[in-house]
Amino acid sequence: MFKLSKKVAVVTGASRGIGRSMAETYARAGAHVICVSRNEDALNVVADGIKSNGGSASVTAINVSNLEEFQNLIKDTTDTYGSVDILVNNAGITRDTLIVRMSEEDWDTVIDVNLKGAFNGIKAVTRTMMKQRFGRIINISSVVGLTGNAGQVNYAASKAGLIGLTKATAKEIGSRGITVNCIAPGYIATDMTGQMDDKAKDLLISQIPLGRIGSPDDIAATALFLASDEAGYITGQTFTVDGGMVMI
Ligand SMILES: NC(=O)c1ccc[n+]([C@@H]2O[C@H](COP(=O)([O-])OP(=O)(O)OC[C@H]3O[C@@H](n4cnc5c(N)ncnc54)[C@H](OP(=O)(O)O)[C@@H]3O)[C@@H](O)[C@H]2O)c1
Repeated sequence: MFKLSKKVAVVTGASRGIGRSMAETYARAGAHVICVSRNEDALNVVADGIKSNGGSASVTAINVSNLEEFQNLIKDTTDTYGSVDILVNNAGITRDTLIVRMSEEDWDTVIDVNLKGAFNGIKAVTRTMMKQRFGRIINISSVVGLTGNAGQVNYAASKAGLIGLTKATAKEIGSRGITVNCIAPGYIATDMTGQMDDKAKDLLISQIPLGRIGSPDDIAATALFLASDEAGYITGQTFTVDGGMVMI
């Protein structure tokens, strides 16, 4: 198991699903985790669970698409805990429909949360990490950002955008000891993917070489490795964690 002792980690979208699993995994590895989403009550449930298992966590409710809120979060974190070592830009939404029916608002909202939200996080944290000469930034993309998907032009564009954002940032700040990487999950069982009938589930599983739908813990394990000291020579990369569904 990789260790994150004495590290301070900010995980967005930590109120449920993949973000919750990453927050719990980081805390088990010894990090103090700041759990972030818009819903303070849900975040408190996650943080209380972490603390009752002997971990360390706090919560901050922000909308990631608001730069000022993100900057205040990072300032409060450095004032209170002395550093921000790990940032996971995981908060994400879908507004699926075919492009002929997609409203400008469907487009703007998804780009604002999924892509601008990650820009805001990186912008807010970069100076602190540069001064520390250490940082781990992990952006949660999607296989859809690599392949495209009908009915998701906004989501696919935001997730492909994250891969470009990751590469460009990795080139800019690598010399300061900061790594920037992406994880592209495949189909993971969370609220976002919802309930599927057995027929649709069987069809999906038949397209996954490892023969099962992923769990949030599958993503958290990769996120733990990328946050660890052992991953210090990896930057600008996208790791597909999808049971082999997409092989490029
Ligand atoms: N599940 C999958 O199959 C899958 C596949 C590929 C990629 N992903 C990506 O993985 C990430 C997590 O997905 P998930 O399946 O765990 O989704 P989820 O269960 O729907 O959770 C989404 C999280 O994002 C937070 N969030 C949404 N909008 C926000 C905003 N404006 N500001 C702050 N927080 C916000 C939500 O918290 P609140 O509602 O409490 O604010 C929640 O914690 C997303 O980026 C998603 O695109 C998921």
